[in-house]
Amino acid sequence: MKVGFIGLGNMGSGMARNLIKAGHTLMVYNRTRDRAEALHAAGAKVAETPAEAASHADVLITMLADDRAVEAVIAGAEGVLQALPQGAVHIGMSTISVTLSRRLAGAHQEKKQYYLAAPVFGRPDAAAAAKLFIIAAGPRQQIERCQSLFDAMGQKTFIVGDEGSMANVVKLAGNFLLTTVIEGLAEAFALARKSKVDPNQVLEILTASLFPVPVYKTYGAMIAAEKFEPAGFKLRLGAKDNRLVLAAAEEVAVPMQMASLVRDHFLAAIAQGMSDADWAAMARIVYQSAGL
Ligand SMILES: NC(=O)c1ccc[n+]([C@@H]2O[C@H](COP(=O)([O-])OP(=O)(O)OC[C@H]3O[C@@H](n4cnc5c(N)ncnc54)[C@H](OP(=O)(O)O)[C@@H]3O)[C@@H](O)[C@H]2O)c1
Repeated sequence: MKVGFIGLGNMGSGMARNLIKAGHTLMVYNRTRDRAEALHAAGAKVAETPAEAASHADVLITMLADDRAVEAVIAGAEGVLQALPQGAVHIGMSTISVTLSRRLAGAHQEKKQYYLAAPVFGRPDAAAAAKLFIIAAGPRQQIERCQSLFDAMGQKTFIVGDEGSMANVVKLAGNFLLTTVIEGLAEAFALARKSKVDPNQVLEILTASLFPVPVYKTYGAMIAAEKFEPAGFKLRLGAKDNRLVLAAAEEVAVPMQMASLVRDHFLAAIAQGMSDADWAAMARIVYQSAGL
């Protein structure tokens, strides 16, 4: 398939490479051109503008930081919306708000284009290894049309429903739960440390008994070692997802007290200069409040 790919950050670079490996023809765009040049060596053409990446595509994929970035490349006279051919699909794979996802579906429909939301679970290592879990929603026929792309980037695609924004809700619910895992592990390890128990031993025991779960192992190891750089998922993006969770919850009147608590820990971490550390660095705030 002819694929336009916009957003070659920690996640997008690996995803785009896997599409090339699977035999798709890629035209890539990234705001910082160096990252696009790296893909050129792997066989992609490099577009000068987002519109150029969209203009010849059967399918355009965006893997951008946040709502603002997606709006910047989609809207405007030079934007993707104007350039994408009729009948082509935009797959939005970034973690964005439920409201923007809805707006995108409407805007593409007006242009006789299709929109799928397909946010992902999995960190950059999973993106590079084509092991992402993809949560897809939108018109069923278009999901089927794009299945070979999903298969090239992920290990499993879950189909949620026919409205794109439903996939964004699932993604946000998942990320919310991850923040509670980070918070919970940090509190448990603070308790252990102040009681002269080695957090590494706590982690070893709990992940071999009650919680033999990948996320406990991954985040537990980072928090026990207090190693938050280089970031797999930047704290400022985690804070962004927490904002999106709270906005989605407010819209449907769901109190989410744990999300509110975690919000303040994110803000404290940002205030202390941790925006570019991994989002698990939020644990430092928990440690500090325990006097560690
Ligand atoms: N990392 C993870 O573990 C993970 C896991 C699942 C989902 N996600 C989601 O995946 C998305 C990408 O995450 P990432 O970790 O790849 O982030 P990243 O490394 O920070 O990359 C962000 C990408 O967005 C581009 N960008 C940012 N602002 C822009 C703007 N105003 N206009 C145009 N381009 C802009 C960046 O371009 P430049 O290169 O020019 O900065 C870069 O290509 C996010 O929505 C994130 O929440 C991340």
